[in-house]
Amino acid sequence: MPYYRRVGEVPRKRHTQFRQPDGTLYAEELMGQEGFSSDSSLLYHRHAPTAIVAAEEFAPPAYTRVPNLPLKPRHLRTHKLDGAGADPVLGRRHLLANDDVRIGYVLADRPSPLYRNATGDECLYVEAGGLRVESTFGALDAVAGDYVVIPTSTIHRLVPTGDGPTRLLTVEANGHIGPPKRYLSVRGQFLEHSPYCERDVRGPDTPLLVDGEDVEVLVRHRRGWTRYTYANHPFDVVGWDGHLYPWAFSIHDFEPITGRIHQPPPVHQTFQGPNFVICSFVPRKVDYHPDAIPVPYNHHNVDSDEMLFYTGGNYEARRGSGIGQGSISLHPSGFTHGPQPGAAERSIGVDYFDELAVMVDTFRPLDLCEAAAECEDDGYAWTWARKG
Ligand SMILES: [Fe+2]
Repeated sequence: MPYYRRVGEVPRKRHTQFRQPDGTLYAEELMGQEGFSSDSSLLYHRHAPTAIVAAEEFAPPAYTRVPNLPLKPRHLRTHKLDGAGADPVLGRRHLLANDDVRIGYVLADRPSPLYRNATGDECLYVEAGGLRVESTFGALDAVAGDYVVIPTSTIHRLVPTGDGPTRLLTVEANGHIGPPKRYLSVRGQFLEHSPYCERDVRGPDTPLLVDGEDVEVLVRHRRGWTRYTYANHPFDVVGWDGHLYPWAFSIHDFEPITGRIHQPPPVHQTFQGPNFVICSFVPRKVDYHPDAIPVPYNHHNVDSDEMLFYTGGNYEARRGSGIGQGSISLHPSGFTHGPQPGAAERSIGVDYFDELAVMVDTFRPLDLCEAAAECEDDGYAWTWARKG
């Protein structure tokens, strides 16, 4: 998505004869968004990407959604969900969801099945461990601190890498996820005031070729899930070019925007999706006005539910609330939130925040899924009323 990329072999002109060593034509596949009116990539397959030999309905792991009632700020401890390990697609525990986005968490210790999410882009944040994203576009390796954006309908497999299990925060959109428009030129180049740019973005750089026949792919589509059996392994692309491909970006490459007084959350924005944004809070020098109060003021974004995933350092504004590594806070519309008691005074004179957090702000309310109830800290809502 971020910019033009070319991998492997492609012919000089698109839609012209491009032949395999045995003289047969490679099979072209144009994969594009918004009906030929937005980003696309053109892939060259050894086999027809249309050749399926079986299709059956598939029942994905069930989950429930209930409204946030009574309306409360919530604290979820994702690490309490740690179980025996799971695969990074079917093992996701959904925590928060609305009709635009689903947010989940998984402790992954085994490869996923081949998977195509035809309902929207996914943004995976690697909290710990490593992740190899194998796809028709090639392989892409990610480590702790990386975001990986996987475009809608990319056939891929997620493989945990590294010594321990891999921890992922998963953000599944019903639509497309990309950099904020205000950071892009009309032709899509990152502008000078963007907190990251092309040099910070990684994509697959060589084709990934796998032989195989009768290969199963799970397809999550707009009306359910189906398990296809493809006649040939879908990782048979010898080359592709275009603007659409899985890409990774490290939160550690996000350059914070700071100021003399407190900067509002839009300076942390990293991605935009349909009816939501994703922001990165990274270690940074803080406000340098002599009378500055570095932690945020109490605030109420009346049109947003705000989810924060705490993934490193000390989150100064939340000190004393029980929030720690792997915690999620949900501050919904209808509730004014702000720093914990004492945090404002404590922050005066501090010139550096060592914090790392991922925020998802949604414009429609987030419902709670059953995994949220399993790991909720019930006392969080009352922590602002504590003395001291
Ligand atoms: Fe907030």
